[in-house]
Amino acid sequence: MKFNYFKKNKYFKILYKNFKNIKNIHIKDLFLNDKNRFKKFSINFMDIMVLDYSKNIINDNIMKFLCKFAKEIKLNKEIKKMFKGEKINKTENSSVLHVALRRPIISKNFLKKNIMLKVKKSLEEMKTFSERVINGRLRGFTNKKITDIINIGIGGSELGPKMVNTALKDYKNHLNIHYLSNIDNNNLIDILRKIDLEKSLFLIVSKTFKTYETIKNANSVKKYFNNKINKKKFFSKHFYAVSNNKNEAIRFGIKKNNIFKIFKSIGGRYSVWSSAGLSIMLSIGYKNFLKFLNGANKMDDHFYNEPYNKNIPIILSLISFWYNIFFNAETEAILTYSNRLNKFTDYIQQLNMESNGKNIDKNGEKVLYNTSQIIWGGVGTNCQHSFFQLLHQGTRFVPCDFISFVNNRNKNFYNHNINLLSNFLAQTKSLAFGSNFIEKFSKKYKSNKNNAKLYKIFFGNTPSNSIMFKSISPKNIGILLSMYEHKIFTQGIILNIFSFDQWGVELGKNLSKIIYKNLKNRKKVNYEYDSSTHGLIKYYKKWKK
Ligand code: F6P
Repeated sequence: MKFNYFKKNKYFKILYKNFKNIKNIHIKDLFLNDKNRFKKFSINFMDIMVLDYSKNIINDNIMKFLCKFAKEIKLNKEIKKMFKGEKINKTENSSVLHVALRRPIISKNFLKKNIMLKVKKSLEEMKTFSERVINGRLRGFTNKKITDIINIGIGGSELGPKMVNTALKDYKNHLNIHYLSNIDNNNLIDILRKIDLEKSLFLIVSKTFKTYETIKNANSVKKYFNNKINKKKFFSKHFYAVSNNKNEAIRFGIKKNNIFKIFKSIGGRYSVWSSAGLSIMLSIGYKNFLKFLNGANKMDDHFYNEPYNKNIPIILSLISFWYNIFFNAETEAILTYSNRLNKFTDYIQQLNMESNGKNIDKNGEKVLYNTSQIIWGGVGTNCQHSFFQLLHQGTRFVPCDFISFVNNRNKNFYNHNINLLSNFLAQTKSLAFGSNFIEKFSKKYKSNKNNAKLYKIFFGNTPSNSIMFKSISPKNIGILLSMYEHKIFTQGIILNIFSFDQWGVELGKNLSKIIYKNLKNRKKVNYEYDSSTHGLIKYYKKWKK
């Protein structure tokens, strides 16, 4: 066993024994043996969403012992620490306060009052600003109404807002929102081609105001603006910042009153609820943004209060842990049956892998088990025609989350929505149960290896969670995101790692600065590179026009 760390837990050992028994049982047999599986292994959340986790390789005992294991590691205590605002982000000596952002109603919080007052103030500032832009009271330097917002940010300062605005497209107003993140100038050029500077606002969203890509892009836009407009005084009418680093934003040239604050204790990938989500409020309005916060808050309450065996994020997390550690699942696929969620995988990849892609545990020891799974996925039904073949007949074990919405805000045009949902249901069923002919074909396999029918065998036994919502709405998207945030947080606790830092991204960042200097100097390669990097730099210099 590679996971010595867990062996000290009584219930882990019990789980291990049970794993040996259940690992060869097929999901279809689990269903045959228990007629109540759906009732037992599903949770209705506020009659808005249902989680069906019955198509997993689990039974009553496994779920019971997983929950006991969670109790044994004192999960509840850790959850309380986060909600109380304790400094659980130890490596950065900080609290983790994204849940506070979802509690704008001051009376019922259990966090220190001054934090809630700051949250409320920040929300008020966002409200005033977004309403002025939407109503056309805030105008550009030629007194034209604003039509386009350009969010300049990367990672958490882009992925969350971009994903939410895509999901809530049917709630958007007249403003066009663009996202400039990549240091590839094609990203910038594509946006500049679409906008009119007189009618555009630029939001530089960077908690640190130091992120290389963001500052480079912001500088390029600033130069472009000042060259085109030719009057520096107009710059301040069009440039705003969202940051924790006020001084740096001011040094860049942003007016003090044009800066919205992100609190230090809000991690980038958890900042969609903060002023980093300003582009969301600008697009869907203050009231809808509040509904988005409120949805997340409902899931927070559920996560905080419900017992383990009825707690959606905890159950998702325990099942994920079960596959990660016992079944050695390397990956987890997230499949969204809604075109509106076509940015969801990008967002959840950062949330999960930046949080839990760690190899040193909380005691400073190298971890000997796998931490974050590789998260991947896509939009159904499109991905059914690309990688689903591997899910159905490949050799990898890939647990899946399927997400769908029963109602579409747009008219059910020629039954499209029914088709979409039929596929969602058909896929989870066929992945779990496979073909009915497994036994029959396996006999033939021995006798007739050339039988073409053999290639049509579906062994099934691919587990999945089905997460089905009534509809897409600001509140429901808030619920969905908060659910995954807490699932990932719980996983970090179980895996005994720090989920709220991201030191791993630093090395590449720093090295790129050195290489940049080398690439600029056309003649010399003056750094002790390995032969691969050296060789590629030489090619760059040879080919660069
Ligand atoms: O990629 C590292 C990271 O620090 C992310 O965690 C963060 O979301 C992103 O960079 C952007 O950071 P900032 O908002 O400070 O520009």
